[in-house]
Amino acid sequence: MTSVLKGLGVAVPSRVVTNDDLAATLDTSDEWVRTRTGIAERRIAEPGVATADLAVEAGAEALKRAEVDVGAVVVATCTADRTIPGIGPEVASRLGLGTIPALDVNAACAGFVYALSVASGLIASGVADGVLVAGAETMSRVTDFSDRSTAVLFGDGAGAVVLARGEPGEPGEVGPYDLGSDGEGADLLEVPGGGSRRPLDAAALAEGAQYLKMDGREVYRQAVRRMVASSEAVLAKAGLAAADVDRLVGHQANARILEAVADRLGIGEERRFLNVARYGNTSAASIPLALADADLVAGERVLLTAFGAGMSWGSTLLRWPDLPVT
Ligand code: UT7
Repeated sequence: MTSVLKGLGVAVPSRVVTNDDLAATLDTSDEWVRTRTGIAERRIAEPGVATADLAVEAGAEALKRAEVDVGAVVVATCTADRTIPGIGPEVASRLGLGTIPALDVNAACAGFVYALSVASGLIASGVADGVLVAGAETMSRVTDFSDRSTAVLFGDGAGAVVLARGEPGEPGEVGPYDLGSDGEGADLLEVPGGGSRRPLDAAALAEGAQYLKMDGREVYRQAVRRMVASSEAVLAKAGLAAADVDRLVGHQANARILEAVADRLGIGEERRFLNVARYGNTSAASIPLALADADLVAGERVLLTAFGAGMSWGSTLLRWPDLPVT
C-alpha cells in the first residue's frame, strides 16, 4: 500500500505586482531584486480575499481532475484566515465534502511536504482512501511593505493535490519522506505578534509585531544546508542517487538558494525547475504552484524539497503521473 497523486489544481490572485511597482514606494530596484532573488513579480490578493478562498479554488480544480472519493482535508498554511480555527474544516465544507476530518498543518514554507506526509499517514492508518492536500498562503497579510528586506520576497497563492490509496510502483506514487526541524532557529523567521507570547496590544502593533521579520542571511545559509541534507536523506531511504532524479522541484524562495542546492546535489540546469520569478515566495503554496508549471512528463521521478520557518524542512519523491495541469 502506498499513496499516489491523482489531481492538481492551482489558484493565484489576478493582481500582479512587479519589482518596479514596489520600487515606486520602497528603496529598492528591479535589478537588485532580480539579481539577489530571481523574483520579477508576485501576485497579491485583493482586500477581502483570504487564504481559504484561494485554497477552495485550487482544491475544487484538484478534486474535479482527481475523481477520487476524498475522506479528509489537510491544508498547509502559516497565514490562516483567523488564529482560531484552522481553515481545513471550512475548506472541506465549502468544497461540499461534508463533515470529514480536516485540519491545518503549519510548517511554514515546508508545510506542503509535511502535509503530504500527514495525508499519506491518514491513508495508511485507514482514516481515508483519498485526501485533499492544499498549500495556501496570503503572505501579503503579514508583510510590512515598508521593510525592503522582506517586502520584495513574498507573494500569495495556492495549490492543491489529491492523494489516494495506491499500489507501490503505480504512477503518481509519493514517498518516502524525510522531515526535520530545529526550534533553536525559531526567531530567525517569525511573525512575533498575535500569538500567546506577544498578543497584539497597542504597543505591539505600534512596533509592527504583526509583520514577518527575517534574518535573511542566516536563513539562506541554513536553507541550502538543510535542503541538500534532506534531499540526500530521502534519496538514500529510497535507495536512489541524485542521478536518478529527473526533475528537482524545490521550494521557491530564492533562485540562488535552489541553484546552490542543485549544484551541491549534482543536479544539472536541465533538471532544475524555477518559477520564483513569477510568484515570489508563496511559502506552502510554492511546491504545488511549481508542479503545475514545470511541464513534467509522465513517469519522471521528481524530488521535492523545502525549508522554512520553524526552522522546518522536508523532502519526498514523486513519480509524475499522467496528469492534466493548467
Ligand atoms: O522561504 C524560506 C525562507 N526564506 C528564505 O529562504 C530567504 C532566505 N534569504 C534570502 O533569500 C536572502 O538572504 C535575501 C534575498 C533576503 C537577501 O539577500 P542577501 O544577498 O543575503 O542580501 P543581504 O541581506 O546580505 O543584504 C545586502 C545588502 C544590504 O545592504 P548593506 O548592508 O550591504 O549596505 C541590505 O540592506 O542589500 C540591502 N538590501 C536591499 N537593497 C535593495 C536588502 N534588501 C534590499 C532590497 N533592495 N529589497
